[in-house]
Amino acid sequence: MKIAVVGGGIIGLSTAWQLLRRGAGVTLYERDRAGASTGDVAAGMLAPYAEVGFEELNLMKLGQLSLERYPQFLEELREDAGFVPELDTCGTLLVGVDRDDAQQVRRLYDFRKQLDMRIEMISSAEAREREPLLSPRVVTAAWLADDGQIDNRKLLSALLQAFRNRGGQLREQTPVDELVHRSDRVEGVRAGGKTHPCDAVVIAAGCWSDRIAGLPATAQPMIRPLKGQILTLKQTTDCEPVCMIRSPRVYLVPKSDGTIRLGATSEEKGYDTTPTAGGVKELLEDGWELVPSIYDLPLEEVRTGLRPAGRDHAPSIGYAGVEGLYYATGHYRHGILYAPVTAFSLADEIIENRPHGQLKEFSPLRFKKQ
Ligand code: GLY
Repeated sequence: MKIAVVGGGIIGLSTAWQLLRRGAGVTLYERDRAGASTGDVAAGMLAPYAEVGFEELNLMKLGQLSLERYPQFLEELREDAGFVPELDTCGTLLVGVDRDDAQQVRRLYDFRKQLDMRIEMISSAEAREREPLLSPRVVTAAWLADDGQIDNRKLLSALLQAFRNRGGQLREQTPVDELVHRSDRVEGVRAGGKTHPCDAVVIAAGCWSDRIAGLPATAQPMIRPLKGQILTLKQTTDCEPVCMIRSPRVYLVPKSDGTIRLGATSEEKGYDTTPTAGGVKELLEDGWELVPSIYDLPLEEVRTGLRPAGRDHAPSIGYAGVEGLYYATGHYRHGILYAPVTAFSLADEIIENRPHGQLKEFSPLRFKKQ
């Protein structure tokens, strides 16, 4: 079976690699450089418990499911790439510095407790025992022991290596302009002025997904970019956080390479990826409020990513209404977290030609008018 995967980000690479493992021939088309997009900018949090809100129970469950599949994903990746990043289950401290924050943390605690999740309300003294760098201004804290994180950049390198080692064909600097299909069957993709025939197409192009002509009107991805600015600070011996720390405004993620990712803004600015003074100022102020000792850290990087946000902020995964057409897009804030469940389920669906029951709530056809 010949499959075209459109998009070389975390989701496209993961799905393409899993398809190769199941014996398909895969060509991956990437408009820029594989692995260089939003997944590279991300902080690498695997935080189904800290990252989603009350109204997003289905996303929390999807995150849990995907986190459970991470060990298998990494084991298979090690076989094919020869190296993988470590899965770090360091946990998240959810904290607040004023009454508004305290109420928000409390509400999140109550909600998660009702779902029987592992979460503890702890005193600010206990929070400082867990994380001595916390500011004395922190007045409220909850501990989410099951949240984890990963080196997302190493993960992308491993996926690219595994894709190559399994014989995948990579076409970089090659945007797909059009899906070629006759009535209700995929025939190929149009890229670089040529038609490339194939049996199936996976659209995993993040916030560029609905710029591809020829996608069926019944399953338009309707993805918009949501700009996120994020900083990388270099740790010093005075400032080495031991866990992830977040408030309702900001998160700090200590990475195994000796840095801290401090993020992220959420801005409706279309496809603009310019870092701004205001964005950096807000992140630094909000981060400093939680961990004052970041003040003296070297600022290594300011990056901007475009999160692919769907209409309901949930991903679209699976059959998309034309035989041979599948979506794996709209992963919004959770691309790194949802990569295993997306890749395993979609590769099974395509190769075995049966819908994956597990992800039916995320069908691309859910917006279809009856
Ligand atoms: N998942 C982190 C973010 O979207 O900023």
